[in-house]
Amino acid sequence: MRQEIRQAEEQDYPKIAALERLYMSVPWSLDTILAAAAYGTLFFVSEQVEGYGSIKLIEDIAEVNNICVQTDSRKLGIGQAILDCMVQTAFDKGVKKVLLEVAENNRPAIAMYAKNGFLPLYTRPNYYHSVGAIVMQKVLVGI
Ligand SMILES: CC(C)(COP(=O)(O)OP(=O)(O)OC[C@H]1O[C@@H](n2cnc3c(N)ncnc32)[C@H](O)[C@@H]1OP(=O)(O)O)[C@@H](O)C(=O)NCCC(=O)NCCS
Repeated sequence: MRQEIRQAEEQDYPKIAALERLYMSVPWSLDTILAAAAYGTLFFVSEQVEGYGSIKLIEDIAEVNNICVQTDSRKLGIGQAILDCMVQTAFDKGVKKVLLEVAENNRPAIAMYAKNGFLPLYTRPNYYHSVGAIVMQKVLVGI
C-alpha cells in the first residue's frame, strides 16, 4: 500500500511528542520538538501520524534525527515512505549526503537504512548508554 507522507503541521507536533514518549528511550519533549522545528528541522508525518521522521539540512549535508512508526503500523511501508520523502526533500534542496546514527542493536532500522543505500562509516562506542551507534551515510547522486 502506498503511504502518503506530508510535512508536519502545528497540530501534529503533540502527536509526534506522544510517539517519542512511547518509543524513544530518551524522548524529545514537545518543547524540544517545537524548538527544533523553529530552528529549521523538518518533520514529516504519515497521514494519521502513525509515524514521523525528522531531518536537519545544513548547507549540503543533512542529518536524519529519527524515524519512528507506532508498533501496530509497522511493516506497512510507512518508515520507508518517510525515509523516501526526507531523502527526496534533501536532494531537491541540494543536499549531497545524508548522515544518521543508529543503535548497533537496532536491526529493523539498520536493515531499512542499508536497503536504502546508507553505508556504515564508523561506530561510536557506548553512544546510547551501553549500546554503540553506527554512523551511516548515503551519498545523493542523481536519485
Ligand atoms: C525502523 C522503523 C522506523 C521501520 O518502520 P516500518 O514502517 O516498520 O518500516 P517499513 O515497513 O517501511 O519497512 C522498510 C524496511 O525496513 C526494514 N525493516 C522494517 N522492519 C523490520 C524488521 N522487523 N526486521 C528487519 N527489517 C525490518 C526492512 O528492510 C524493510 O523493507 P522490506 O519490507 O522490503 O523488508 C520502525 O521499526 C520503528 O519505528 N522502530 C522504532 C524506532 C526506531 O528505532 N527508529 C530508528 C531510529 S534511528
